[in-house]
Amino acid sequence: MSPRSDHRVRSDSPPTAAGEAVPGQPGQAGDDRLAFWARQAERLHWDTEWTTVLDWSDAPFARWFVGGRLNVAYNCVDRHVEAGHGDQVAFHWEGEPGDTRTITYADLRREVCKTANALLSLGLTAGDRVAIQLPMIPEAVFAMLACARLGLPHSVVFGGFSPAALQSRIEDAEARLLITSDGQYRRGRAEPMKAGTDEATRNTPCVEHVLVVRRTGIDVPWTDGRDLWWHELVDAQSDQHTPEDFDAEHPLFILYTSGTTGRPKGILHTSGGYLTQAAYTHGTVFGLDPEADVYWCTADIGWITGHSYIVYGPLANRTTSVMYEGTPNTPHEGRHFEIIEKYGVTVYYTAPTLIRTFMKWGEDVPARYDLSSIGVLGSVGEPINPEAWRWYRKHIGGDRAPVVDTWWQTETGTIMIAPLPGGPAAKPGSAQTPLPGISAKVVDDQGRQVGKGESGYLVLDQPWPSMLRGVWGDDDRYRETYWSRFAAQGHYFAGDGARYDEDGDIWLLGRVDDVMNVSGHRISTAEVESALVSHPAVAEAAVVGASDATTGQAIVAFVILRGGTVWSAGDVSGALREHVAQEIGPIAKPRQIMVVPELPKTRSGKIMRRLLRDVAENREVGDVTTLADASVMDLINAGLADGS
Ligand code: PRX
Repeated sequence: MSPRSDHRVRSDSPPTAAGEAVPGQPGQAGDDRLAFWARQAERLHWDTEWTTVLDWSDAPFARWFVGGRLNVAYNCVDRHVEAGHGDQVAFHWEGEPGDTRTITYADLRREVCKTANALLSLGLTAGDRVAIQLPMIPEAVFAMLACARLGLPHSVVFGGFSPAALQSRIEDAEARLLITSDGQYRRGRAEPMKAGTDEATRNTPCVEHVLVVRRTGIDVPWTDGRDLWWHELVDAQSDQHTPEDFDAEHPLFILYTSGTTGRPKGILHTSGGYLTQAAYTHGTVFGLDPEADVYWCTADIGWITGHSYIVYGPLANRTTSVMYEGTPNTPHEGRHFEIIEKYGVTVYYTAPTLIRTFMKWGEDVPARYDLSSIGVLGSVGEPINPEAWRWYRKHIGGDRAPVVDTWWQTETGTIMIAPLPGGPAAKPGSAQTPLPGISAKVVDDQGRQVGKGESGYLVLDQPWPSMLRGVWGDDDRYRETYWSRFAAQGHYFAGDGARYDEDGDIWLLGRVDDVMNVSGHRISTAEVESALVSHPAVAEAAVVGASDATTGQAIVAFVILRGGTVWSAGDVSGALREHVAQEIGPIAKPRQIMVVPELPKTRSGKIMRRLLRDVAENREVGDVTTLADASVMDLINAGLADGS
């Protein structure tokens, strides 16, 4: 990998087309690419102009827009108000029980300033970490932006994660503050949240305060001196706050994601490059017009999609968004379509798993609503099967709206591969081409680009502005996970398989490592296995992702029980599923638990998941010749046939 620090590109360089990555051709020359990104960075307000677009001399640790200084929250909020757009709606918020809130950019500025002043009153200073576990309520956005405004890296933890998962994330980032709520609405019921976060913070002395939003009004346990109500602390603050500027590489957030080992990785994103690419991709992929569009991304802010495409990208682009708190079938299966009709949503961005759920509920549900406002449909999180793609376009997009299938990852920060609306004819199921400015390739085991019609590994062969800057507190893990596989070529290894079709378009084939994708959520087999073996009845466990018509993949666990455990299969299954939900969160609950006498292992002791996947998917078991004991599969199959 050649150092790039000599490519100095000023923001006043002439515009350069990015003209991009046709397979078979190497990535665009560095100068053009960097000039392209320099132009994209002009979407933002910089307090100090950068001097160098990219410093890659310490690869794989990138520095983008070196010397530049900016405030991310100012870019997302204040500058729009200063430019006269204070009355424009930033969020049409829709609560699950039917309550609503309209938040203009001027309102947003006031709320973010008050929240920032509250955080300052707690003695937090730039660089301190703040953990956030909140439902999809406006305070989640205020909290994230207040952190960004003060240079406090936030770590948002999905509301469905267990206290144990929250605790490990708080500890890893050593968060000083936790922001949470009393409870959250789930399927029409108020469920506790603070009770769980209290369990998580019982043994985390780093947390000095817990700031609690009152959302449901349910009773909460309370620790005097540590716990503070949002409506008492934040609402009493001044709504004026002058933002400070931070270095382009100042950490913006940490977001934990599953890797191939049991311990989630804290993916680190920084400010200038991340916001540049979030604004660019959001604006370009969805053809976003801040004057005309009403945009709705249905993700949760606990995932990267919520960070980049509910908060940072849309707000940097002065978007009017819809934000919805609840589940899609509360109180009825038409809820999303009702919201689209109510607000005249023009851009709708969701995940294939939800599209397949809509398919199950039936096309007569969307047919009851006026969805004619829809102009662009987006998909993210997993490969979208052609059937779902066609259904989406026909029944939600009126057979007119383009479907943009966007491939990216927590690590890439923002969209990397997607067809642009108005581009060449879309192909159902293909993310197609890297965006202008991005270079991706499909390579073989040796890192050589494969030809048309061939499959291999997806790599990113050029750095990009919103790339992760590392794994929090673990540089070695960063190098090892992403940069060691194709170290000779200096390629980033995405962990996904992919294929070129005859036109050279890219088709994503799913993970090639031990990471499962369940309803678009990444869960590692190792994480679920370690949760299972932490149960006293389990001696050994192996977990695989089996294909599932609705969730893409489903978790299937094979467990060996400890000697002396006398349980019926039903009891074991129920107890272990519940145990996993408690250890990680309900999203990690196995669909199925199979009790087996042995697990198939190679001579070196590695579990052959491929064979277990065959069992889980009811297929003829494949080649068993590399097993240490070839009879194991017969034992497993015989045991399962017995129903034991
Ligand atoms: O396997 C790919 C799949 O989701 C993984 C990234 O997961 P996560 O970091 O949780 O981010 C999800 C939201 C960006 C990828 O490695 N994936 C995501 N989008 C697609 C996809 N697979 C195929 N097509 C997509 N559009």
